[in-house]
Amino acid sequence: MPTRTLNRNAEATEIELPPDAATADDHRNPPRRRRNEQEPVPDVGLLLQPEPRHELDKLILHAEVKTDILAGLRALEIRADLDLIWNLSAIQPQEGKCILNFYGPPGTGKTRAALGIALRLRKPLYQVDYSAVISKYLGDTAKHIKAAFAAAREHDAVLFFDEADSLLSKRVATGESCSTSINQNRNCLMQELDRFDGVVIVTTNLFENYDPALLRRIQRHIKFRIPDASMRRELFALHLPNPDRVEADYAVLAELSLGLSGGDILNICVNAIYAGSTDANPERWGVSQAMIEAEIKKARKAKAEHSGGRERTGGRLGL
Ligand SMILES: Nc1ncnc2c1ncn2[C@@H]1O[C@H](COP(=O)(O)OP(=O)(O)O)[C@@H](O)[C@H]1O
Ligand SMILES: [Mg+2]
Repeated sequence: MPTRTLNRNAEATEIELPPDAATADDHRNPPRRRRNEQEPVPDVGLLLQPEPRHELDKLILHAEVKTDILAGLRALEIRADLDLIWNLSAIQPQEGKCILNFYGPPGTGKTRAALGIALRLRKPLYQVDYSAVISKYLGDTAKHIKAAFAAAREHDAVLFFDEADSLLSKRVATGESCSTSINQNRNCLMQELDRFDGVVIVTTNLFENYDPALLRRIQRHIKFRIPDASMRRELFALHLPNPDRVEADYAVLAELSLGLSGGDILNICVNAIYAGSTDANPERWGVSQAMIEAEIKKARKAKAEHSGGRERTGGRLGL
């Protein structure tokens, strides 16, 4: 029930009003927009909410990759003690700051690991969209870079530069041809990284020709590798989630899929599931060894036809 404070002779008394009485709030003007709110902040990314299926434990990784990821997470979690014992703030003043670089071939789980880290930190992931950041108009790219950091701050999100090869490269690829603006953009990115007091994850496929200024700001480089035979076996089992409908020898599949990534195995399994689900009666659906082998063959052929395995997977499949 609304109340109103009567202030007589400096003595405040609270009286009860009828339920439909107007209160001061009803007559208040809407809050005035601040000057910088008048210009709409461009949307330069996507806010992703990690889900339980993105749990880091569900990733099949080489032992040293897992150890590196967990060490990075631990450094964030024990920051208060690190400060207490090592006075870390004296050399690294921003408490939550951590820039991680996941690099390695496509389809090895880099994007998934970023989602897993965000899930562990109980934060959303702000995935920067380069096509929205890069502008042909002078000065706009720098504005968009700032907007990405501002959005991550606003949502208390992990800032995510996925497939950031162009960003890490010395030759910052932008739509702007003028080298002054390229430098401006680069400087703006460095400044924003220095100011940002949170977790930043960049992923790259090639990680060549990198910009040394950016490189020295990255705390941890984690190399993702193509899975070995026992990992491929697990990847098949993971991506064929109803074993009752699968008749296959996983050890043989693991042998046949030498050199393929987790992303490739995901695609093989999804295609085999489609191939095994053509009967009008879903009760008769099932995946056989032959179906999976046929898909492995197709994947290997497609890979071989692509020059040197430097293709991009598109990354979004099954995320
Ligand atoms: N190490 C892995 N463990 C489990 N699944 C994986 C792994 N690597 C890839 N996958 C599967 O492939 C999909 C694509 O992987 P992704 O994280 O996009 O690879 P990247 O970012 O390295 O290109 C994932 O959603 C997952 O289904
Ligand atoms: Mg990816």
